[in-house]
Amino acid sequence: MSHPTLTLDRRAFLAALAAAGVAPRAVLAAGSPAILRPIPASGERLPVIGMGSWITFDVGADAHRRKSRLDVLRAFFEAGGAAIDSSPMYGSSEAVIGWCLARVEPAPKSFAATKVWTRGDWMGRQQMRHSAALWGVPRFDLMQIHNLLDWEVHLETLLEMKAAGRIRYIGVTTSHGRRHEELARIMETQPIDFVQFTYNVLDREAEARLLPLAAERGLAVMINRPFRRGALFDRFERQPLPAWARDFDAANWAQFFLKFIVSHPAVTCAIPATSRVDHMLENMGALYGRLPDPETRARMVRHVEAL
Ligand SMILES: NC(=O)c1ccc[n+]([C@@H]2O[C@H](COP(=O)([O-])OP(=O)(O)OC[C@H]3O[C@@H](n4cnc5c(N)ncnc54)[C@H](OP(=O)(O)O)[C@@H]3O)[C@@H](O)[C@H]2O)c1
Repeated sequence: MSHPTLTLDRRAFLAALAAAGVAPRAVLAAGSPAILRPIPASGERLPVIGMGSWITFDVGADAHRRKSRLDVLRAFFEAGGAAIDSSPMYGSSEAVIGWCLARVEPAPKSFAATKVWTRGDWMGRQQMRHSAALWGVPRFDLMQIHNLLDWEVHLETLLEMKAAGRIRYIGVTTSHGRRHEELARIMETQPIDFVQFTYNVLDREAEARLLPLAAERGLAVMINRPFRRGALFDRFERQPLPAWARDFDAANWAQFFLKFIVSHPAVTCAIPATSRVDHMLENMGALYGRLPDPETRARMVRHVEAL
């Protein structure tokens, strides 16, 4: 589904903030529009903060935990989010996302992204059909080959599905430090639209090759593990946020980490995962306000490395 313009229901968002006991000023640069980035292949614009679902949405059939994830997803959409990333690798996450999507009203303008994670053409097709049934979507916006697994085989299938209008974009994923060389070769030679890999204020390996290559090849970039699976909070959250974070409208560490990522010009969106409404609202605050300039980004790196 496309986002030519994205209107944020501010009243609903503010109500969600109040329900979570979060002061609006703490998460949202007042009055600013959501930051959107174009997908190079189409020009369609995506909000720069999306949502991951590994572990956080793998809650099985437990009614209480499903309801709490529904609240997280509502907060995400009310704050202007669209892109949701999942995978058949993430246990019950796809089923839980589907259950939640069916209950968000009005029906949200989501950008549905999942992955194929198996070997073989027949298994891949079966798995993608199953994922669509779990999500309850007629088609995925983005289908990614998870961790490059059997990528030559799945790429053939995905090109066929894209030509038939059964998916909109094709992507390939990896995570921190894994198979960057092979991913770079795919980026250089294959007709894909998106890449997904790890990038955050401490894990900056992608700056050397993958990010410039994505920009050069006109590929959209989705960033996983933006908080190093939560380790950035364990390491830094007891430290005071530097006063100059205010200059780019970061009111907390979550926004500091996310704004570092999405201020890289080659990044299309980051997909932080959370199981909590208050954390979701903090994270979505990074969708608004100013972003750090290159000089400030260098200062952010120096600052965290010195802590
Ligand atoms: N190869 C691949 O394709 C691949 C690999 C890795 C990841 N991914 C995708 O990328 C997504 C993101 O990566 P990730 O889940 O590994 O890690 P992440 O987003 O870097 O970190 C998630 C952790 O951060 C915590 N958190 C989130 N917001 C917070 C906040 N505002 N304050 C404090 N803690 C906060 C969460 O705990 P709470 O629940 O308590 O908030 C959770 O434990 C995944 O969910 C998945 O969709 C893809």
